Amino acid sequence: MTKRSGAGLLVRGEGLVVSRAGRVILDHVDVVAAPGVVTVVTGASGAGKSTLLWVLAGLIEPDAGTITPTDRFDRAAVVVQTYGLLPVLTAKENVELPLLMRGVPGDEARRRTDAALERAGLPDLNDRLAEELSGGQRQRVAVARALAMQADLLVADEPTAELDAETASLVVTALREEAAAGATVVLSTNDPDLAATFDHVYHLHSGAIDRDL
Ligand SMILES: Nc1ncnc2c1ncn2[C@@H]1O[C@H](COP(=O)(O)OP(=O)(O)O)[C@@H](O)[C@H]1O
Ligand SMILES: [Mg+2]
Repeated sequence: MTKRSGAGLLVRGEGLVVSRAGRVILDHVDVVAAPGVVTVVTGASGAGKSTLLWVLAGLIEPDAGTITPTDRFDRAAVVVQTYGLLPVLTAKENVELPLLMRGVPGDEARRRTDAALERAGLPDLNDRLAEELSGGQRQRVAVARALAMQADLLVADEPTAELDAETASLVVTALREEAAAGATVVLSTNDPDLAATFDHVYHLHSGAIDRDL
């Protein structure tokens, strides 16, 4: 999963149900995410966006319904809402380490890391520890880490939530470029204005796709 395969990855979920603590939090959701397209999941806080993105990325299995392909987790890079950085590593190390662990040669890992951090708008902060960065800076390191993986499937959970308009636009541009390069990109946002700038949008409402919109 260290390089985009070029074959593309079509993710298709049908009748997805997830229940937690006796509550249905995804209620028979049908969803398709195609290569070359940014698929957006939007809805209010608590609507089920993160849960749907985790299912799409293969981080959790649905309690009912089907989702294919089954190897999507191995081909995915995920930006989780809580960033998931290692606090005592630098920004750069957080991006580079997953590449090295997947066998990317050192030179290439460094090149991809530098390029991804630049695309995420993080000049000059590469040698700072993650724990010293602001929320917005951490969020961009998490985005850079996903970009550097050049995965077939890039799933980003509210990747602009902590960002000002200018840096949010950098991140959105980078995600659009990943789709244009052939990746299957899924992003969630609770910002209706941002969602409205995309063509392929799912509106989630209380765990179900809102069909009235
Ligand atoms: N592990 C869990 N146990 C119980 N409830 C959960 C769990 N995960 C999510 N939920 C509930 O499911 C709903 C959807 O959560 P989530 O997918 O995080 O929504 P969103 O990302 O749109 O804010 C919320 O009401 C949340 O409290
Ligand atoms: Mg969420």
